Amino acid sequence: MKDLITLAIESSCDETAASVLKNGREVLSNIISTQIDIHKKFGGVVPEVASRKHVENIDIVVQQAIDEAGIEMNDIDMIAVTYGPGLVGALLVGLSYAKAMAYALDVPLVGVNHIEGHLSANYIAHKELEPPFVTLIVSGGHTHLVEVKDYGEYEILGRTRDDASGEAFDKVARAMELGYPGGPIIDRLAKEGDPKAIEFPRAYIDDGYDFSFSGIKSAVLNYLNAKRMKKEEIPVADVAASFQDAVTDVLASKAVKAASEKGYKTVTLSGGVASNSGLREKIQKFGEEKGVDVKFPPPVLCTDNAAMIGCAGYYRYLKGRVDGMDLNAVPNLQI
Ligand code: KG4
Ligand code: ZN
Repeated sequence: MKDLITLAIESSCDETAASVLKNGREVLSNIISTQIDIHKKFGGVVPEVASRKHVENIDIVVQQAIDEAGIEMNDIDMIAVTYGPGLVGALLVGLSYAKAMAYALDVPLVGVNHIEGHLSANYIAHKELEPPFVTLIVSGGHTHLVEVKDYGEYEILGRTRDDASGEAFDKVARAMELGYPGGPIIDRLAKEGDPKAIEFPRAYIDDGYDFSFSGIKSAVLNYLNAKRMKKEEIPVADVAASFQDAVTDVLASKAVKAASEKGYKTVTLSGGVASNSGLREKIQKFGEEKGVDVKFPPPVLCTDNAAMIGCAGYYRYLKGRVDGMDLNAVPNLQI
């Protein structure tokens, strides 16, 4: 069979990204232009600024992805693009660009759910991985525990009832005046702290598969306020380590529990928070204890990228999904 070349585009938040893939799982190029330095000044992503930066970057990023892959425009067989969830203005930049290219090249356009993209990063990182398995998607906007029954066939086992896990990292880091995005900074600091120094609450919510992070976030904020009121020094590394320990305890134990209760041998991690070294270590340990194999992508495929979108788009295409020029951005798209 002839190789299928996918050009993928991702612009749902603050990364403008393009990738070229061969047969869905082989990445020929993966270009990511991040706007973090711009949004840092504001302590979070400013949607209007993000859209404008996507407009400035997208042409350059796509061209670079094509050049680095060593292909010609005419080699592209399909275009995959994120159409939700995300910031509507940001999504529209990538989507309009993808539509224009698909129309000009006369190739199929395949809209991809960003969350499905995240979990698909594992197909790229682990060539032998096939469904079924359980996956934990943990990012700045989402925290989902999902049963992957087949390619494109999902059942949501649990989700967050309030903040996403990455959001909790970012908000706690902000309260500690550490900077944005908070996840990587807390991860780094946690390595120097004692995870047992402060007893923060773990939300097992009656041991179902749903998550809640607002309780621990409030507990950390109360702790910080009390310290500030008493004019006591805040043990920053210990707070980071104890917070991370509490959050990752819940994430790792629920993911492994879901896999073993559902009778699956594999659990995968994805999304920005899947880069967290504490979470990786813990889920591996819990997995070993329960005889569940744990897989996660390298950090470059955890945070937003277009390679994962191309992979998810490829499997959608194989299942006959093609979108028309009327495809619109869906900011609150569900998996
Ligand atoms: O997947 P992603 O790049 O974007 C979304 O789709 O949301 O995830 C970004 C999130 C941010 O909240 C960031 O703080 C978090 O992932 N993150 C981390 C780490 N690296 C990124 N959280 C904890 N530990 C990390 N090492
Ligand atoms: Zn994401």
